[in-house]
Amino acid sequence: MRLVRSFTVTPHLLSPPHSIHPSRIDGIESGVAIECSNLNYSITKKQRKLVPILRDCSFSVPLGQLWMLLGPNGCGKSTLLKVLAGLLKPTNGHVYVKRPKSFVFQNPDHQVVMPTVEADVAFGLGNLNLTHDEVRSKVAKALDAVGMSNYLQRPVQTLSGGQKQRVAIAGALAEACKVLLLDELTTFLDESDQFGVIEAVKNSLGDSRDVTALWVTHRLEELEYADGAFYMEDGKIVMQADGVSILNFIKNRQSSYIERINS
Ligand SMILES: Nc1ncnc2c1ncn2[C@@H]1O[C@H](COP(=O)(O)OP(=O)(O)O)[C@@H](O)[C@H]1O
Ligand SMILES: [Mg+2]
Repeated sequence: MRLVRSFTVTPHLLSPPHSIHPSRIDGIESGVAIECSNLNYSITKKQRKLVPILRDCSFSVPLGQLWMLLGPNGCGKSTLLKVLAGLLKPTNGHVYVKRPKSFVFQNPDHQVVMPTVEADVAFGLGNLNLTHDEVRSKVAKALDAVGMSNYLQRPVQTLSGGQKQRVAIAGALAEACKVLLLDELTTFLDESDQFGVIEAVKNSLGDSRDVTALWVTHRLEELEYADGAFYMEDGKIVMQADGVSILNFIKNRQSSYIERINS
């Protein structure tokens, strides 16, 4: 498991059996890559006070699509992603996420660990008993998917923030990741880097659409790339729809908030 940059949750780190929805162990047949039902996550504060962070979240993400998760700061987006990644154990409810799954963190400077792009993408392949040629071929294919084929020998410290994110995604793809969990990757990026990363994610789904991505963002302009999206508030999924409907929903919410303040 790689805790720096992306990490892939390997089979020996599978979520505990109680968190797998019995009817969804065959997620491939159901056409669903991620499914949660009545998912709750609470933390225990002082004096054993239980504070709910995620409340009764139920949603699904179809295989091979790019879905986005939006909502105000502190509403629980990162917590939800961590539960999906298996980093946090739900208090109750059911979670199914197709495997292998990878989590990519927000800060591009935490994403890359090796001196060159090639070495970094190959990093997770070290324990798979692959030949040198097999490793090179997987690295080349993954870098091609994120549009970084020409950067094979580049020192990673010379890359932009978005390029580092794309290298991290390539690392996950090289390890045959099936679900990408991406937490606000574009927060620190300028516009061209931002769209470079989104294009890379979209391309990573592959022609055969065997990779699924859940993308947390607060940048509304990214919604046009989404196959679908969720809007969260106060730990709850309040809407699941296509990108345009979510965009209109958020804009309406923002204008009624501004009207309330002005009045
Ligand atoms: N380990 C923790 N201890 C206390 N509060 C936490 C912890 N993790 C998350 N929270 C709280 O849970 C809420 C949701 O956090 P988070 O998932 O990071 O939101 P978002 O990613 O939407 O900004 C916030 O109010 C945050 O303060
Ligand atoms: Mg967050």
